Amino acid sequence: MVRHIIFLLCILTFTVSAGEISRPPDSLAKWYKPGNKRQVWLHNMFKLRREMQAVTEYLAMEDQPRLEKWAGRLEEHYLEIGNMVPEWQDELEAPVARELAEAAAAGDYERTARAVRKIGLSCRSCHRDYRAVAAAIYRAPDFGKVTVEDSETLEMESMEDVMNRLSLLVNRIKIASEDDRMPAAADALTQLGQRLNDLGASCDKCHSDDIPRERILGSATRSSMEHIRQGIDRNDKKFIGRNLGELAVQACARCHGVHRTLSDLKKVMLD
Ligand code: HEC
Ligand code: HEC
Ligand code: HEC
Repeated sequence: MVRHIIFLLCILTFTVSAGEISRPPDSLAKWYKPGNKRQVWLHNMFKLRREMQAVTEYLAMEDQPRLEKWAGRLEEHYLEIGNMVPEWQDELEAPVARELAEAAAAGDYERTARAVRKIGLSCRSCHRDYRAVAAAIYRAPDFGKVTVEDSETLEMESMEDVMNRLSLLVNRIKIASEDDRMPAAADALTQLGQRLNDLGASCDKCHSDDIPRERILGSATRSSMEHIRQGIDRNDKKFIGRNLGELAVQACARCHGVHRTLSDLKKVMLD
């Protein structure tokens, strides 16, 4: 039994590490909000990109003093990666960064160019494994903590419950109208309008302006809801179906494109 479990664990470990995507060490968290007041990790990365650009440009111009200045900064901030996340010491080519700064100081352009290329590969290798996942985990908004007030029961509901309810109501409108149960379709439409209003009231937990809500739950969505209502009133199934499709793009797919995919990915990675 135990042997079976160990065998299974081995297979699982292998499957996970065979994928390109890996989870970054937890020590990365303290270089991001809310663990830190600033996005320290990201700013170090921005510096590295700028320094790589400056080094490449001054190398091409053979401007030794400026090359030396930027190569020194590049070495410093590259090594900073290992100070911030000790688990990533092994990912770094510390001797190459030293070599780069020394060659730049000596005005040896060929040696500098070789070192720059090697450092570039080291950036890419770590990014391939960790960049997208780190951004999803530490920078995507956390909808696991978002709750939405139901304006009828005044209860706070999880995002997942709210979403399942929305999906149920959209489908109920479709099913009921297709089967000539127009009063049931009209009732579901009224509820859908209320639930979307409730959801809209939660946007300002993170958004300080009204533009994102207007884009997703504003006049375009209201107009589609109005059309569905007209379709129900005059028993026009085709018209209802078309406008329900519009609504699903305007009010659901657009928000999912921005928020759901990252939110799902974040959940998977943190599990
Ligand atoms: C040991 C891992 C590691 C190494 C080495 C590394 N990075 Fe990064 N880098 C990351 C991670 C993780 C992110 C994702 C940060 C985020 O999006 O929140 C990142 C993101 C970035 C970004 C931000 C991209 C964007 O526009 O959002 C830039 C620029 C960057 N790195 C430049 C560099 C350069 C240049 C080097 C090499 C000199 C380098 N990095 C080396 C891990 C690494
Ligand atoms: C948990 C925090 C959070 C909640 C709640 C939230 N958002 Fe966002 N949203 C963000 C962040 C962060 C961004 C990216 C940066 C930015 O625009 O502030 C973003 C970006 C967007 C964007 C694309 C950029 C833009 O500003 O237009 C749209 C559209 C959007 N959100 C719609 C909504 C709607 C609609 C709601 C409410 C139903 C909502 N969001 C609720 C955090 C959140
Ligand atoms: C904030 C913008 C936003 C809007 C508007 C939105 N959704 Fe979502 N939806 C999300 C997010 C974020 C998740 C992932 C929530 C989670 O599970 O934590 C999600 C998840 C879902 C899920 C999966 C729920 C589960 O069990 O995990 C369904 C179904 C869904 N949405 C349906 C809809 C429908 C139907 C509409 C339109 C009537 C809609 N959503 C509008 C953001 C939005």
